[in-house]
Amino acid sequence: MEKFISTENLTKIYRKAEEEIRAVDGITIHFRKGEFAAFYGTSGAGKSTLLYLIGGLGQPTEGKVVVDGVDLSTPDEDRRAEFRREKIGFIFQFFYLLPTLTALENVLVPLVPLDLPKENKVEKALEALEKVGLSHRRNHLPGELSGGEQQRAVIARALVLEPEIILADEPTSDLDRKTAEAVIALLRDLNYQGHTIIMATHDLRILDHASRCIGMEDGKIVSDEG
Ligand SMILES: Nc1ncnc2c1ncn2[C@@H]1O[C@H](COP(=O)(O)OP(=O)(O)O)[C@@H](O)[C@H]1O
Ligand SMILES: [Mg+2]
Repeated sequence: MEKFISTENLTKIYRKAEEEIRAVDGITIHFRKGEFAAFYGTSGAGKSTLLYLIGGLGQPTEGKVVVDGVDLSTPDEDRRAEFRREKIGFIFQFFYLLPTLTALENVLVPLVPLDLPKENKVEKALEALEKVGLSHRRNHLPGELSGGEQQRAVIARALVLEPEIILADEPTSDLDRKTAEAVIALLRDLNYQGHTIIMATHDLRILDHASRCIGMEDGKIVSDEG
């Protein structure tokens, strides 16, 4: 199997006072290009921590992560940041929309460092908003959007650089069922278009849609099907 994303003995230990939490405990796993994989498990199982590590957002305590031939366990934060910008779109709860910027301006944020004329950037951002069905709300502030619309704006922002890999942490939490289904349909569409998607969820309903379901418990993988 072609290993597009690989972890090897990946471990993240959080130390709090005298307590040691093995949030991710020696995980070795591989993903192919084009997979639509979902981690599930109870709260505290280590799903978010694992996604951060796969996305190069933090450094593992032990082990490594290699994404498309690049070792993301490097302590070189600049290198990791550059790789993230190019390859990975994050749909994470704590990457909130900036409240004083419109939907369009929020989607423009990742394009700021690019050396492109302003009108091309706006064009790209509008395309991304179009993809998620939100271009009619482009001039609204996040506070003027519903929860589902905000989540779609977050997805548009994650997509605007057309990353090969999309990491989504609980992308449907806090959404009503209908909106959750729309967000899942959107992620499936992106997967059909060739994006590799790895999500974390404890919503069992989402798992129906994933092509691979991976169970986690206490920082370890306990099942892997699909
Ligand atoms: N920054 C942190 N500092 C200390 N402990 C943390 C930190 N982040 C997560 N943890 C702990 O690591 C474990 C795994 O957390 P997390 O990855 O958020 O799990 P999940 O996403 O599956 O709910 C939990 O016990 C959590 O309390
Ligand atoms: Mg989590």
